[in-house]
Amino acid sequence: MKLEQTESTGVARMRKSAIKGIGYHVPAQVITNHDLIDLMETSEEWIKTRSGIEERHWVKGDEAASDLAFPASKRAMDMAGVSPEDIDLVIVATISADYFFPGVSAQLQDMLGLRNVAAFDIRAACSAFVYSISIADQFIRTGMYNTALVVGAEAQTKFINKSTEGRDIAVLFGDGAGAAILQPSIDESGILSTHLHCQGKDMKNLWMEGPGSSGSNQINKLTIEQARTYEPFMNGREVFKNAVVRFPEVIQEALDKNNLSIDDVSLIIPHQANLRIIQSVAKRMGVGMDKFYTNIQKYGNTTAASIPIALCEAFDEGKIKAGDYLILAAFGAGYTWASAAIRW
Ligand code: ACO
Repeated sequence: MKLEQTESTGVARMRKSAIKGIGYHVPAQVITNHDLIDLMETSEEWIKTRSGIEERHWVKGDEAASDLAFPASKRAMDMAGVSPEDIDLVIVATISADYFFPGVSAQLQDMLGLRNVAAFDIRAACSAFVYSISIADQFIRTGMYNTALVVGAEAQTKFINKSTEGRDIAVLFGDGAGAAILQPSIDESGILSTHLHCQGKDMKNLWMEGPGSSGSNQINKLTIEQARTYEPFMNGREVFKNAVVRFPEVIQEALDKNNLSIDDVSLIIPHQANLRIIQSVAKRMGVGMDKFYTNIQKYGNTTAASIPIALCEAFDEGKIKAGDYLILAAFGAGYTWASAAIRW
């Protein structure tokens, strides 16, 4: 582990990373619950009571994940005061890359005019932003890189079946992007710890089968006609049951690792999966909803983008102050789940 001398005391301490800039961007097109009634058999009341969602932003026309990632990244870079030459690592968390390959990270590197630095995508669904923060933090801790751009970007509604057949999923999801710049911490602030998990045996409760390399999913006339594999499937009740157990577990793991109690934490920024999931997590943990930041009402579930968008809005609303302890917590397809303890 890389040790650095502190300027004030001369005492060696472990290098860690800190979030120095954040930014987000959502598509202009707003879809209200009322708008969905024109597309499918549903009701404003069903959507609001089951999920808390009132509206979401959907990409339109040619708009893709990279178009959302770019402005979010520029904002994070501006806030951090970094120029394209400073960045030496790009990680994009996404399940809805513009192309099957390469990843959005390669496009973004070019769009932002960065040097030929490392760039890759992470496909850990709703946990991917926390996974990516963890990866960037490891590179900075070891001293390999100094300035990382970490982005969560989704244009996932392009894959969603927006008819009555797909309504259980269609009403929940939205598009957007959020970004963070990580650099070495020069004080007590920073990423204190990260905790990553996966339970692959339940992967088929929340998945999209194609396009993929599995035998039955080769793209041919029959699979295209049947279009059976090219939209997400969710076993909503199973996802719900697992999410409300894993969120508290992984939040507790972050607290224990840092000898913190829940009272020490100013704000938990959970993946915005469903308001009822977050309410149930708060109840199970015996804490008030004021400890959890939520903005799912405006954006729906934006998968890998939800935590960075929520982080930006919580910051803009003055809910995050220097010295605060925060916890980012995620659960999603895989199943994957993850947390990060942060001193702002
Ligand atoms: N509008 C109207 N009716 C609908 C809709 C809709 N959009 N979608 C499904 N229904 C119907 C179903 O067809 C079913 O009808 P039936 O009873 O006639 O068969 C009925 O509503 C199901 O109703 P409930 O059983 O009451 O649904 P439930 O309370 O289980 O809610 C939901 C479904 C919202 C999906 C719930 O299971 C849930 O919250 N699961 C968690 C999933 C989630 O939030 N995933 C987020 C993505 S994953 C992640 O990010 C972690």
